[in-house]
Amino acid sequence: MSTGRSFYITTPIYYPSDVPHIGHGYTTVAVDALARWHRQAGDDTWMLTGTDEHGQKMLRAASANGVTPQEWVDKLVEGSWFPLLETLEVANDDFIRTTQARHEERVQQFVQALYDRGYIYAGEYEALYCVGCEEFKPESEIVDGTGPFEGLKVCAIHSKPLELLKEKNYFFKLSEFTGPLLDLYKNEPDFVRPESARNEVVSFVKSGLKDLSISRSAFDWGVRVPWDDSHVIYVWVDALLNYATAVGYGTDPAQFERRWPAFHIVGKDILRFHAVIWPAMLMAAGLDVPRGVFAHGWLLVGGEKMSKSKLTGIVPTEITDVFGADAYRFYFLSAIAFGQDGSFSWEDLSARYQAELANGFGNLASRTMAMIEKYFGGSVPPPAEYSDGDRRIQQIVADAAAEADAAMDRFRPDEAVAAIWTIVDALNGYITENEPWALAKDAAQRARLGTVLYTAAEGLRALAVLLSPFMPHSTGMLWSALGIAGRLVDEPIRAAGAWGRLAPGSAVGALAPLFPRIDQ
Ligand code: ME8
Ligand code: MG
Repeated sequence: MSTGRSFYITTPIYYPSDVPHIGHGYTTVAVDALARWHRQAGDDTWMLTGTDEHGQKMLRAASANGVTPQEWVDKLVEGSWFPLLETLEVANDDFIRTTQARHEERVQQFVQALYDRGYIYAGEYEALYCVGCEEFKPESEIVDGTGPFEGLKVCAIHSKPLELLKEKNYFFKLSEFTGPLLDLYKNEPDFVRPESARNEVVSFVKSGLKDLSISRSAFDWGVRVPWDDSHVIYVWVDALLNYATAVGYGTDPAQFERRWPAFHIVGKDILRFHAVIWPAMLMAAGLDVPRGVFAHGWLLVGGEKMSKSKLTGIVPTEITDVFGADAYRFYFLSAIAFGQDGSFSWEDLSARYQAELANGFGNLASRTMAMIEKYFGGSVPPPAEYSDGDRRIQQIVADAAAEADAAMDRFRPDEAVAAIWTIVDALNGYITENEPWALAKDAAQRARLGTVLYTAAEGLRALAVLLSPFMPHSTGMLWSALGIAGRLVDEPIRAAGAWGRLAPGSAVGALAPLFPRIDQ
């Protein structure tokens, strides 16, 4: 068990109304890379993901397929959402489903606590609802429909008609939290990141908050309101609570104390729920607000958000079957600035696979290992005297490791990979300049040849450690080939930049190509 500082990080819990697409995979691998980084840094890490299984959207998906909602979610979760984690090599610590008893019972307990504290009242409501968002839409996100929806009001995200709902509901006094929330954003400038997301949230809250309808009575696929079983709890209130119920809220105070509060990584579509409603719910219950919310951008298709409802989703296995999980993870985490939108393209993915993974990192590893095999019988040579050029490599490794850690700390995996890649580029240049194949022809240069190959191999050691949270599979292969005792995942990542971990005399093994050529 780790003794470091708690680092609890979450993905959104996804709607299993349909199969996952690469947008869900994007958030999940980002969170996994961040969690792996912190775990390997010795922080007391916990990564949570899961599925959001109640509500009208699920009910409609199930009835369209002629099964009960429970049958529908069971089939999708087991058949598609669990396998996604395997496909992408995700090392989550827990997976919560909102239909589990451990969750439903605590949701009732939480809502009852808000009721007892006087934050809930009964009222009447009439507003436009988007089933895609599971949300009564604010004015700013209601637009005029076009084409088949001409003349109707549609959701700005889903482009589908909104439904006018009129119901007797229970309300949460969200409006009372306008001041406390603005104080929170002011006192903790990093509470919402990036800057663009923070600005959006601050101006939304400044414009004034309305109370939130937190129950529905027109259908019953949800958690019952504890004091009135003709209502179910609004699916978003139910869903947000997963982050607390999964770590023992109401059942295991020691676990809750140890883990809570969390960092939430979400897409910008659901920023407001996480940065406004959720902290207000926690404040009302007298619990700590999250440590922070980071909203990343959207994967776009034809300039629009890739989505299940618009049928523009690409399934992750289309990519991993061809390029592998490491390439998927590397591509999405390095090619898109985390926090901004990005467009996926097969051409870009192939080009980066070839240039950066196969020719850059993969080739560096295979030629270094092959030369150690050929010139030193597979035993890592000792370094002799270091030249200025060798010391420059050592400095680049130290700087890259420090910069990558700082980037991960500010939730920028893309900047971390860019920093680490300075090592790949520097080492490839170093090998070209030092021409070990020429040194090998001159017996008088034997010690120098050893220093050059030690430098390259020790640089690879640092790369294996620093890249393991991003590409667990290929770095694991490289680690075995380097012949270092111990598991890669146990290598302290914040010490990765310290020179000399690789022991001379270490027996290197064969290394299959890390990123094989792909025939298209
Ligand atoms: O909103 N680009 O679930 P959801 C990037 N159940 N990320 C994308 C994406 C895209 N085109 N499409 C989806 C819900 N995502 C709720 C969440 S949390 C308490 C409840 C990712 O299935 C991104 O993380 O619609 C987005 O926020 C999430 O999937 C929405 O998943
Ligand atoms: Mg959605």
